[in-house]
Amino acid sequence: MLDYIIAPSILSADFTRLGEEVRAVLAAGADAIHFDVMDHHYVPNLTVGPLVCQSLRQAGITAPIDVHLMTKPVDDLIIAFAKAGADWITIHPQATEHLDRSLQLILDHGCQAGIALNPATPWQGLDYVVDKLSMMLIMSVNPGFGGQAFIDVTLDKIAQVHQWRTAHQYAFRLAVDGGVNISNIGRIAHAGADTFVAGSAIFGAPDYAEVIAQMRQILVNQTEQKD
Ligand code: DX5
Ligand code: ZN
Repeated sequence: MLDYIIAPSILSADFTRLGEEVRAVLAAGADAIHFDVMDHHYVPNLTVGPLVCQSLRQAGITAPIDVHLMTKPVDDLIIAFAKAGADWITIHPQATEHLDRSLQLILDHGCQAGIALNPATPWQGLDYVVDKLSMMLIMSVNPGFGGQAFIDVTLDKIAQVHQWRTAHQYAFRLAVDGGVNISNIGRIAHAGADTFVAGSAIFGAPDYAEVIAQMRQILVNQTEQKD
């Protein structure tokens, strides 16, 4: 079984103190940083670019950075974020004309590749690119904003992808992004997810370490129930 990963989304961080915020969640027990990039075209919101990712690296942040590109087109930014220090780069299939080429571009630039599936996007049909994937990111909200409510039907999709992964012994991580909190993380893990992106639930909490420890405890209980 894969270890669980908790990846706070910087979207809900205090951007006037981003370096401190990132250090604080890592010190509080986060495993990776989820870096949401929005372009006001593929999604209605606008966030930050490669310069900010590079600044985190230059400030000494060594934790894995998972760049979630909600941009269209996407290929130039894949290259820019790879150069800026991304570890994982996750893209939406709708954001590229040539999914296989964009995934290969991520790999050619030394990063691990992920695909993000919107709530209405079926997971089927990825057989011909699955060998390139290190992560399948199931969106449990429509991309564009932090702080939205988890869409419950996503649990079925996670369970189906988990089943498909198990049947074929694929090694990609099964991540969930949007509306994850301590009330639903147990159910999400039960459905088969192993990687949990959470923005407002972590950065909105008064004590980051406490909420991450609570999440981790729920995940441990979940594992024990399975054994
Ligand atoms: C949504 C982003 C998510 C979001 C998560 O478009 O991809 O990463 O910021 O934030 P919460 O956990 O607040 O839903
Ligand atoms: Zn995201």
